[in-house]
Formats: sequence, structure tokens, C-alpha cells
Amino acid sequence: MSKLIDGKLVSCAVKERIKAEVSELKNKGITVGLAVILVGEDPASKIYVANKKKACEALGIISQEYLLPENTTTEELLELIDTLNHEKTINGILCQLPLPKGIDEQTVINAILPEKDVDAFHPSNVGKIMIGDYDFVPCTPAGIMEMLDYYNIDICGKNCVVIGRSNIVGKPMSMLLLHKNGTVTTCHSRTNNLSEVTNKADILVSAVGKANFVTADMVKDGAVVIDVGMNRDNGKLCGDVCFDEVKDKASYITPVPGGVGPMTIAMLMQNTLTASKKQNGLL
Ligand code: GUN
Repeated sequence: MSKLIDGKLVSCAVKERIKAEVSELKNKGITVGLAVILVGEDPASKIYVANKKKACEALGIISQEYLLPENTTTEELLELIDTLNHEKTINGILCQLPLPKGIDEQTVINAILPEKDVDAFHPSNVGKIMIGDYDFVPCTPAGIMEMLDYYNIDICGKNCVVIGRSNIVGKPMSMLLLHKNGTVTTCHSRTNNLSEVTNKADILVSAVGKANFVTADMVKDGAVVIDVGMNRDNGKLCGDVCFDEVKDKASYITPVPGGVGPMTIAMLMQNTLTASKKQNGLL
């Protein structure tokens, strides 16, 4: 039987730390502010954006929400980003992805000032992560690293297998594990003999987006299993991992919900705090 990695517990610890720091800054007359932009009506995105606003309010972070219609043009969105880039009280800008068809995502990402890019999606921040000298880390991989650290799970020299190569999760995840001296393999939809690779993993991260994708036969005895999936299986929220069968083989495992999800928002708050400290000359 494996030990559960409790993302709710770890995220609460992170948020308590942030709340205290935000309060200390306030005493010095320094505020922390995040602008979140949502274009269109994607129901999952609406929930994520509402949760980000709630988290800001709970921690004393100023939150501005911009809900734009589905037919917003790239130019209109760029105009808003330009205004927010110049807005002193806004330290972080997040544009919720995916954007509606017709808006060029990379053009929008490129327009956010790198020092306000709390998602760490701007090419300048992506490059810094590659080098290993960074201020912001994409929130999901950052949250996973925080959980591994909280449970004293050593990465150095371990076989780390990441399934998924997205810019948001897979690629930065692989890079962070590499910076901690993991021996990292990044797998994807074209990987041959996937199960053979995953069976060598001491730490297995799945960011595929398919329910029941990781089965017990793909997991080595005693592996640490991190499930990034947020899928629906007959309406029920579930991850990529067949939790009930894998939990008996893994040494540690994250549940869905209550694993990676709560950490993602906590790390967004952390990046926003870092942005304010940098912009106010405290870092
Ligand atoms: N959509 C899904 N995850 C994310 C994220 O981490 N940031 C943004 N901006 N959009 C997302």
C-alpha cells in the first residue's frame, strides 16, 4: 500500500507562507497584484479562473479579472495586455489557455512582459528554465517539485519518466527534474514500447490527459507516481492513472482530485509574490 501525497495539505502550507509574506509586504506599503484574462466561455477555464481569484482574495493578493467575449480579436487582447504591462499595481498577468480559435496563442504569450509572466510561458522565461537560472517556473511542474520536496523524495540519480511533452507541463517538468540531477526520459504519443520505459521509472509523472492511461503493469514496484491528469470518466473527475490498481505498487502516489491540482494555484500565488518582490527591488 502506498503513501498518499496530499496536495491539499502541501498547498495549504505553501499558501500560509505566502499569506504571511504578503502581509509583511503590505506593512511596508508594497502590494501584490495579479490580473487574470479569460477569453470565451470554456467551462473548465471559467472554474480555474474563479479559483485563482478566490485564492488571491484569501492571501491578500489584489486580483483583477478580465472576462472577454469569444469574438475578441488578437489586437484587442494585445491592447489589454499592453495596458496591464504598464499598470504599476499589477505584478503578474495570466491569460488563461486555451484561447478561442482565431487568436494566436504564441503572439499573446510573447506580448506579456517577461517580468510579469507568472505562467513562465514567455520564450525568455522558457530559456531561463533551460539554463537553470529562473525566477518563475510554470505552476504545475513547480507544484510537483514542491510536493516531492515536502515528502523528502530524493530525485538525485533517480530514473524519472515524464509522459507528455507539452510546453506547459511535460517539457518544463523534465527540465526541473534534470536540474535536480534526475536521469530524465520524456515520453510522448510516438514513444515505442512505452511500458518498457515507464517500468524503469523510480519517479513517474503522467501528463497525458487520458483517463485510465497508466495501468499497474506500466509501474515499477515502489515507484513514486505523480498524476497530472484532469479528466472526466463518466462525468467523474479522474487523473491519467488507474489509481485503485497502481496504489498497491507505488511507494507514493498523488490522488485526483486533491493531488497536483491544488498545488498549481498555490504556485501561481508564489510566482505572483516573487513578481512583486522583484518589481519592488526586494529580490
Ligand atoms: N490552462 C491550463 N493550465 C494553464 C496554466 O497553467 N496557465 C494558463 N495560463 N492556462 C492554463
